[in-house]
Amino acid sequence: MIKRLIPASILLTLVLAPAFRAGQQRQLDVPYVPTKYPVVDEMLKMADIQKSDLVYDLGCGDGRLVIGAAQKYGARGIGYDIDPERIKESLENAQKAGVANLVKFYEQDLFTADFHEASVMTLYLLTSVNLKLRPKMLKELKPGTRIVSHNFGMGEWRPDQSSTVMIDDISHEVYLWIIPANVSGTWAWTAGKPEVKGEMDVQQVFQQITPTFKIDGRAAAAREVSLKGDHLRFVLDLPLRGGTAPAAFEAKVGGQSLTGTVTLQDGGRDVVWEWKAQRRPGTQKPIDSDADKYGPRFGLKAPAKIIY
Ligand SMILES: C[S@@+](CC[C@H](N)C(=O)[O-])C[C@H]1O[C@@H](n2cnc3c(N)ncnc32)[C@H](O)[C@@H]1O
Repeated sequence: MIKRLIPASILLTLVLAPAFRAGQQRQLDVPYVPTKYPVVDEMLKMADIQKSDLVYDLGCGDGRLVIGAAQKYGARGIGYDIDPERIKESLENAQKAGVANLVKFYEQDLFTADFHEASVMTLYLLTSVNLKLRPKMLKELKPGTRIVSHNFGMGEWRPDQSSTVMIDDISHEVYLWIIPANVSGTWAWTAGKPEVKGEMDVQQVFQQITPTFKIDGRAAAAREVSLKGDHLRFVLDLPLRGGTAPAAFEAKVGGQSLTGTVTLQDGGRDVVWEWKAQRRPGTQKPIDSDADKYGPRFGLKAPAKIIY
């Protein structure tokens, strides 16, 4: 038997047209469609929720995502919804689930919420709404914060991970993004004894980075480059005793400095050096400024009924 697979994003499109509730002043940016529980489970799993997390659900509906995170993982949560009916349901559901001490719900427009404290953000909105939120997320969320979205993407910002949950022949996509630290610009660095001096120039679009290096004035190429949150890694061949040695660089990004280690083999022994880098003033760039070079353009002001 051939099964027809219907993406759940299409179903949300079909219910989009009248997004007003009776007597309501402000139009909903997204209608109320709850995320099904198997998808809730997958979103929380993909976000790797820990007890120490503070989970924000923007447009929280009946509160199931933050309540689930509190029940299953002991995490704290905050839900925002503009619809008072949803907030009432969320508060009742939190009481019933016995997690009212861990979660809070606010009747508030999600665009006016302050994101700084969140360590996980859950979304079941629309691509147009995600795109409107994207600059605010990149500005306010700390590097390493996980964002999981049900069905809807972030335009040119490709997810770090994705999966599909099938429910009754309907496919639901789950996407994960990890807020990257901004490592763009030119960095001067030193490592080891005798000291090796280098320069690293980084082009960055979201979490994708392309670093180029100069060591003692000579160009060098890195491999195995990765940036996950504020954790930067790569392997670079370093000049050592007349030859070169592959060296694994690892560092934490902290504002305008990088602090970490370089691990390499010297004379058959593992050696770990300190690695410090400082960004040259004025070389940092916004990480979404070149985004349109890397994928399709999306209108930021698309009305809610146009999706994908
Ligand atoms: C598709 S539902 C998702 C509900 C819940 N997050 C879930 O996944 O089950 C979208 C929710 O966003 C809320 N919403 C729409 N526009 C909003 C806005 N501007 N501010 C806050 N909430 C909003 C709706 O009331 C609705 O509950």
